[in-house]
Amino acid sequence: MRRVVFNQKGGVGKTTIVCNLAAIAASRGLNTLVIDLDIQGNASRYLLGDDLPQDDIARFFEGTLRFGRTDNGLEQCITDTGIKNLSLVAASNELDHLAGKLEAKQKVHKLRQALDRLDEFDAVYIDTPPALNFYSRSALIASQRVLIPFDCDDFARQALYTLLENIAEIQADHNEALDVEGIIVNQFAAQARLPRELLAILIDEGLPVREPPISASVKVKESHEAHQPLIHYAPRHKIAEQFVALYDSLNPQNPR
Ligand SMILES: Nc1ncnc2c1ncn2[C@@H]1O[C@H](COP(=O)(O)OP(=O)(O)OP(=O)(O)O)[C@@H](O)[C@H]1O
Ligand SMILES: [Mg+2]
Repeated sequence: MRRVVFNQKGGVGKTTIVCNLAAIAASRGLNTLVIDLDIQGNASRYLLGDDLPQDDIARFFEGTLRFGRTDNGLEQCITDTGIKNLSLVAASNELDHLAGKLEAKQKVHKLRQALDRLDEFDAVYIDTPPALNFYSRSALIASQRVLIPFDCDDFARQALYTLLENIAEIQADHNEALDVEGIIVNQFAAQARLPRELLAILIDEGLPVREPPISASVKVKESHEAHQPLIHYAPRHKIAEQFVALYDSLNPQNPR
């Protein structure tokens, strides 16, 4: 199963959700790959620390610009994270200068083609930049499911409708099989009025809001700094349990 976590709004929890769901998948015995498509490289640093590999996703995309190249190129960019069953294709800031060329040469299907030929992974989680650009579109085209983090503010609700329209356009033009698997409510403050009201509006509108919402917790930042997903950093903490419950609701076929 290939999932992309996307929202063009920044700081809503894309990277946190990708790395934590992927770590849970790996802990359940699935051979799991995280692909970081964000020039910021936050997922790469979350899983690896500051020592990032030379071979990263920029090298893969650069290869697609070389005419006549026959090998896939993605396999050479996979790095072991040190966490059992969890591999990573890291990102780097070279993605920035490549984007224009990739766009001009219409390489937006290359990631999907490469992943179609890579059959060793049971689960793939793709982290995206906070923009609808070449890389996030590549990810939406390459995936079967999209998860949308939502951080409970009113601007985020407005942005959500634009986002759903953008996804519908990609479905129509490139990827009919793409399923909006769910909206993941992040940094949820159950005691506050506005988040509860916003959540109720989304549910009333029939949007696929997933349970449970993820609370705000300082453990998230700590786990980023420790370069350890929450199930390893604070396995008994409420927020790790919420991620596990969320994973279970998304993957009933892969119980612990
Ligand atoms: N549940 C949470 N509780 C507390 N802090 C959180 C939570 N989720 C995310 N954060 C913090 O919010 C910030 C943004 O999170 P994250 O990097 O996962 O979002 P993002 O959508 O990937 O951001 P960007 O758009 O910049 O890539 C980080 O500093 C992270 O530690
Ligand atoms: Mg991010």
